[in-house]
Amino acid sequence: MQKIVIRGGARLAGEVRVSGSKNAALPILASSLLASGKSIYRNVPALGDVRTMGRLLGRLGAGFSEVTKGIAHVDTASVSEFEAPYDLVKTMRASVLVLGPLVARHGRARVSLPGGCAIGARPIDQHLKGLAAMGARIDLENGYVNARARRLRGATIVFDMVTVTGTENLMMAAALARGRTTLENAAREPEVEELGRVLNKMGAKVRGAGTSLVTVEGVEELQPVEHAIIPDRIEAGTLLVAAAITRGDVLVRDCLPEHLEAVIAKLRATGAEVRAEGDGIRVRGKSEFKPADIATQPFPGFPTDMQAQFMVLMTRARGQSVLAETIFENRYMHVPELQRMGADIVVDGRTAVVRGPTKLTGATVMATDLRASACLVLAGLIAEGKTDILRIYHLDRGYDRLDKKLRALGADVRRARGSL
Ligand code: EPU
Repeated sequence: MQKIVIRGGARLAGEVRVSGSKNAALPILASSLLASGKSIYRNVPALGDVRTMGRLLGRLGAGFSEVTKGIAHVDTASVSEFEAPYDLVKTMRASVLVLGPLVARHGRARVSLPGGCAIGARPIDQHLKGLAAMGARIDLENGYVNARARRLRGATIVFDMVTVTGTENLMMAAALARGRTTLENAAREPEVEELGRVLNKMGAKVRGAGTSLVTVEGVEELQPVEHAIIPDRIEAGTLLVAAAITRGDVLVRDCLPEHLEAVIAKLRATGAEVRAEGDGIRVRGKSEFKPADIATQPFPGFPTDMQAQFMVLMTRARGQSVLAETIFENRYMHVPELQRMGADIVVDGRTAVVRGPTKLTGATVMATDLRASACLVLAGLIAEGKTDILRIYHLDRGYDRLDKKLRALGADVRRARGSL
């Protein structure tokens, strides 16, 4: 197994390009199942979760090319299986995104229930409630969800909480349902909006994607599509923080500032210099920051997927910063590792208090989930001495060669054989 070895202290400088969005690519790849034929996707990030979605599409009988130069070809003409098996769902929860498309187009799906994961329980009751309201028969047996429907019918669905993949699954299901579906309290994430754009290119009638009220007029048939995926706002945010904490001067290119407003506002509040420049965002860092209080929220609030990375910046701030994680109940797995590197952090339930500034020192640390591993990479960049990060397959699930991009900006980062 590989590990990442970082020697901290380098100041990042130069330009870096952001890859396509993971959390947009996953539902978009699943949406290919709504049509029969060849779709072409551009700006697809080369990362583990996309490969897993490709394997899943392959198991269903679709053709999926490896992502080369950001391009993926999917051919759904010969889909003949309708099961997302446990071995794939357990490695990637987003596998559940095939549920809506399979039921809508093929009338049936059997999808393993994901179970809990490193960051929380993460049930899918809202996805199932919505499909049931649209007329699907849902049974749970042997750890699997069986869903069947001759043809789904439009319905009004009010989500009990904001759910990103729940909104996406039901938008896809509704695209081929008979009649109108209304989704209330829908997720407003840019990835949901992007899926709406792709569905409409396929011939769907989706309105309001990216707002909390989405309406979908079902159509009889959808067509394959060619589409270039939006940039990854979380990769962009991670790079912005990396530049800021290393006292760097970096232009993060190919990113959309309107997707990063909450992150940029907090970076500015801590004293980093951030401004739009050309097709990107320039950030200039500091050796010391002001503290900030952050509560994670659904979009347009501060993203939970940036919470761990921001915590590293808070160790550099003079005074006390308070983080409240409101989306997931167990998303502080990186804290014990940061503490081992010298951070002063106290966690009480969903609140974390970070006192700074503290000097981080290199250590051997273990990645536990995707964003926690990004946080440890950032900590390694500013730690004194050498940091070994084990279990970096978590990082590779969700980032398209982050280590290579950081190296190009001047970081001393390399991969080596790890023991765990
Ligand atoms: N929830 C339920 N029931 C449901 C669905 C969600 O209780 O049926 C709860 C969850 O347990 C959680 C909250 O609602 O407490 C929000 O979960 P959501 O469904 O929005 O999360 P998700 O769709 O499973 C996506 C991203 C995550 C990101 C969250 C929140 C994808 C593939 N994943 O997950 O991304 O953290 O939205 O923004 O889009 C990551 O990229 O590292 C990542 C975890």
